[in-house]
Amino acid sequence: MKKLLAATSLFIASFSAHAVIIVPEYDVNAGQAIAENVCAACHGLNGVSVVPTQPNLGGQNVRYLYKQLMDFRTGKRLNGIMQAQVANLSQQDIANVAGYFSQQAPWGVGYGNPATAQAATKLFLGGDSTRGVIPCSGCHGPKAGGNAYAAFPRLGGQHAQYIGIQLKMFRAAGREDDVTKDQTRTNDAEKEGQKGMMQTVASKLSDNDIKILSDYLSAVH
Ligand code: HEC
Ligand code: HEC
Repeated sequence: MKKLLAATSLFIASFSAHAVIIVPEYDVNAGQAIAENVCAACHGLNGVSVVPTQPNLGGQNVRYLYKQLMDFRTGKRLNGIMQAQVANLSQQDIANVAGYFSQQAPWGVGYGNPATAQAATKLFLGGDSTRGVIPCSGCHGPKAGGNAYAAFPRLGGQHAQYIGIQLKMFRAAGREDDVTKDQTRTNDAEKEGQKGMMQTVASKLSDNDIKILSDYLSAVH
């Protein structure tokens, strides 16, 4: 057990050694204007979305938000809707709007699924060494609050449907999966051709894991 824990933390440590994401100095008021004009329709003005495929953004850490928006802009993360939203934004606009949403009150949580909560908690906190699933909590935190320094996103309270889609996209990297080809997340690899952190993690998850983790995460706080 000790050995396993040591191996897990080593694995996580090697990933955490990534370069820190630097967000340019941002102007929250300028960001708010963009949010009002462009983003609010789908993500809510406060970053609380009512559509389960459109993620909550309010209070998410700024480095993570900034990185995702830049990833959409450079095509590292493919999604037709979001790529169109950022196409006309400058890097400064992106920093401003990421800064704005990061400073909104954190979104709330849903109810989850009591029937599978226990199994999901175990997987989230402890992983499953027999299948090579490493604990999610190592990076996302025991309450799934994320890690602002490392740009690991908050997941607790995020829409279950959105989380499920993202996990399948990460898992689909390099293999057939039931995700459309014009939607991918291929970022975070240290070197070209390598798998990124979440791709490595998600490659070990079954459909059932994804289902129970998504439900669980929508309620964690
Ligand atoms: C027409 C609806 C729509 C509009 C308008 C829109 N978004 Fe999105 N946004 C989405 C959808 C759908 C996703 C999920 C994409 C995916 O599944 O990869 C998303 C994802 C995101 C993400 C990734 C969040 C995460 O947790 O990884 C960020 C950040 C984001 N949007 C910010 C913005 C900002 C900033 C604006 C305004 C400039 C904006 N969005 C406008 C629909 C929209
Ligand atoms: C080694 C660190 C690490 C571990 C362990 C890890 N994650 Fe992640 N996770 C990340 C990083 C980094 C990102 C952001 C990737 C990016 O920038 O697109 C992420 C993103 C995500 C997202 C997308 C969130 C969003 O808003 O789009 C989900 C969902 C997720 N992780 C779920 C999980 C689950 C479930 C587990 C456990 C089975 C897990 N993660 C384990 C590092 C990790």
